[in-house]
Amino acid sequence: MTLKVRLAGLTTLLIASTMALVLSVVFVRQRTSLLEQIQRERTAALEKLARISQATLDAKEERILLSYLGAWMKSDQVLDMALWDLKGRVQIHSRFLQGDYSSAGDAVADGFIQEANRSTHIVWRTTESGGRRRLQGAVPVLSGGTRFGSAVVDYDADALDRELEAALREVIGGLVVIGGGVLAVALLAAWIFAGNLTRPIEDLSRAAREIGGGKFDTTVEVRRRDELGQLGKELNRMAAQLRELEEMRDRFLQAVSHNMRSPLAAVTSAAYHARQLDAQLPPSVEEDLRVIEAGIRELTRFVSNLLDLERLRAGRMQFNFREANVVDLLDESRRLLERVAQEKGLRLVFEQGGDRLLAVCDANAIGEVVANLVFNSLKFTPSGGTVALGARADGAHVRVSVRDTGPGIPEDQLPNLFGRFRQFGGSQSRKGGSGLGLSLCKEFVEAHGGNIWAESAPGQGTAFHFTLPVAGPGPAKENATVSTADRRTAKA
Ligand SMILES: Nc1ncnc2c1ncn2[C@@H]1O[C@H](COP(=O)(O)OP(=O)(O)OP(=O)(O)O)[C@@H](O)[C@H]1O
Ligand SMILES: [Mg+2]
Repeated sequence: MTLKVRLAGLTTLLIASTMALVLSVVFVRQRTSLLEQIQRERTAALEKLARISQATLDAKEERILLSYLGAWMKSDQVLDMALWDLKGRVQIHSRFLQGDYSSAGDAVADGFIQEANRSTHIVWRTTESGGRRRLQGAVPVLSGGTRFGSAVVDYDADALDRELEAALREVIGGLVVIGGGVLAVALLAAWIFAGNLTRPIEDLSRAAREIGGGKFDTTVEVRRRDELGQLGKELNRMAAQLRELEEMRDRFLQAVSHNMRSPLAAVTSAAYHARQLDAQLPPSVEEDLRVIEAGIRELTRFVSNLLDLERLRAGRMQFNFREANVVDLLDESRRLLERVAQEKGLRLVFEQGGDRLLAVCDANAIGEVVANLVFNSLKFTPSGGTVALGARADGAHVRVSVRDTGPGIPEDQLPNLFGRFRQFGGSQSRKGGSGLGLSLCKEFVEAHGGNIWAESAPGQGTAFHFTLPVAGPGPAKENATVSTADRRTAKA
């Protein structure tokens, strides 16, 4: 789970639980005030009943109360209403409205009526009879200034509960709508808040990754003044220092390679002349000469790699793209490198897939790529092994491969192989070199519009493959001379 999701989740949870608490308090308050309001309304209704009963008694006009009861009885919450005198006899009953006078003149020994008649204020009780829950309310009734009795109302308690539940459902519905709205807004706000907090972290980690991968011109935009902004500044400072170091390194290497060129040319020529001598050389001198030649080869490749990389970096590399037969190119490389292979007790073979495989390339650059790959294989493969060169058509490309029966490369190191100055294995397994060869191969192949990659596993040998486009790296590249600076502007 990402930090952003976690932050947003936590913020939402916080807001949601606070809201749940607030809404519960609101609900309890609403419920209490609803109950109080219902109680007030019922009390007011009973007081009105008492006044109308009194008016009825004073005017000796039963019809006043009966018509009032008629209106009340329309409610399905009211079961019965009656006016009782102090002796507990029913005077007026809602059943009279249906012409049922059976209870007229009844004196009941109902404890509640007796209690109501003794009381000077409204009394309530709940009962259950005949499977029905009732709420009874009684109010004192006066007539001619003296106590006459009590008016009693029987409510259907279940109907009252249903009404209360309906009212509460309405309250809950309202709260759910409010809660849902607030939650949606909270979720959005939490997501934005989390994004604001994690975006700079993501930017920083992206920049750190890029700088770690060697892109020292990476900078992070510093907009904040907090710790994250400080970290961004530090990262920019670090990248600037690395840039400076890289420039210093490049300048130093440039100086080294330029200063080595002339002495190297002189030694090469001296070694060449020594080889041309007709005289039979003593074995020890012959061995010394071989060592000198091997040294010259190493140094020449090193200096040439350095100069090429420098030219590439400065955009001064000139490529001469022409259609060429890759089979011929590889055969030429094999011929040049065969003696080195023999000296090391290795077999260098060319697995030829056909006579002609045309690709548009710079023959010198591709010769260098192949030489670097074969030199690596020759360097790392123990004597008795085999290094195989091969080429085949691969869609719109020609694919060149260099395979060896050497120690192989661990899989986790394959993605880093092509960086500058990358060398792998412990100091014992290193065999000289400077870690520039593969980075140059990559630059050259990519300048052709091709791809380079390695396949390997420890103990299983290594295979390097690169592709060259049949149609060249761009439109009308045949017979074209393209400098890396041109390529850069073309890309932009
Ligand atoms: N065929 C191979 N078998 C095993 N390891 C290899 C092979 N080719 C390359 N490597 C590993 O990749 C590293 C980088 O190779 P690269 O050619 O860039 O540098 P180098 O050979 O060490 O030095 P340079 O080529 O500059 O003389 C090597 O040091 C080695 O660890
Ligand atoms: Mg190498």
